[in-house]
Amino acid sequence: MTGGNQGIGKSVARTLAEAGSDIVIIDLAESTQTAAQIAEDFGVRAAAYVCDVTQPEQVAEVMNAAAQKMGTLDHLFNNAGIVLHKPALELSPQEWLKVINVNLNGVFFVAQAFARYLVATGKPGNIVNTASMSGTIVNIPQAQASYNASKAAVVHLTKSLGVEWAQHGIRVNSISPGYIATELIGDVREDWKRQWIEAIPFQRMGTPEELGGAVLYLLSDAATYTSGCDLIIDGLFTTV
Ligand SMILES: NC(=O)c1ccc[n+]([C@@H]2O[C@H](COP(=O)([O-])OP(=O)(O)OC[C@H]3O[C@@H](n4cnc5c(N)ncnc54)[C@H](O)[C@@H]3O)[C@@H](O)[C@H]2O)c1
Repeated sequence: MTGGNQGIGKSVARTLAEAGSDIVIIDLAESTQTAAQIAEDFGVRAAAYVCDVTQPEQVAEVMNAAAQKMGTLDHLFNNAGIVLHKPALELSPQEWLKVINVNLNGVFFVAQAFARYLVATGKPGNIVNTASMSGTIVNIPQAQASYNASKAAVVHLTKSLGVEWAQHGIRVNSISPGYIATELIGDVREDWKRQWIEAIPFQRMGTPEELGGAVLYLLSDAATYTSGCDLIIDGLFTTV
């Protein structure tokens, strides 16, 4: 999984480990401690690799190293992402490119490296990408056009790869979380958070623990006829 050192990735890693899966964390941050804790808590094998998902050569190297270390790779939770709250009129080209690079290009490079490994080894496998409800709606009051565009692209990339790779026995789905209380939105203005919560029919943000079951389901054999699907998990935010 990518982006597993903290937040949603870390929580989903723990859910998958609890279900018996060995875990490989690929993250820009050193994640050895997170992996060791998962191994200790759930009695599975867990490894950590520092890697920038925007660098395809690094991604390919890490994928090979992880496959060798673990013996096999079966599932990918493709989750690393960043957000930038800045009005579109003020965005520099570098800022725009950085968000698109991590959230869209990174998701593609990791999915591609994983699918290349599966096809080369003749194995089926599953991918769940982390998109966002921001791929479906435009959040307010914060301006985040780069993020919203990147996540809409992840939803359609998911469908596209699902269709291309069906012939290889690879299913590709995405989850689209609503507002989830993680470090990603930890520094956000309190008045924004109050406005978000007022607009959520559940009247609260979600927790990372409320996403793990969906990822587990999509990666499992309970979902063998499911691909190209985007599962929105948002406490009804996008429904009203
Ligand atoms: N928190 C939310 O409300 C929310 C809502 C919808 C979607 N999401 C998405 O969920 C995913 C996880 O978000 P989170 O809230 O856990 O964020 P987070 O900031 O807590 O964690 C993101 C992780 O990704 C890693 N990462 C960032 N850039 C990377 C790169 N270039 N290469 C490798 N790793 C990198 C970080 O080191 C970190 O461990 C993101 O894709 C985010 O867009 C979050």
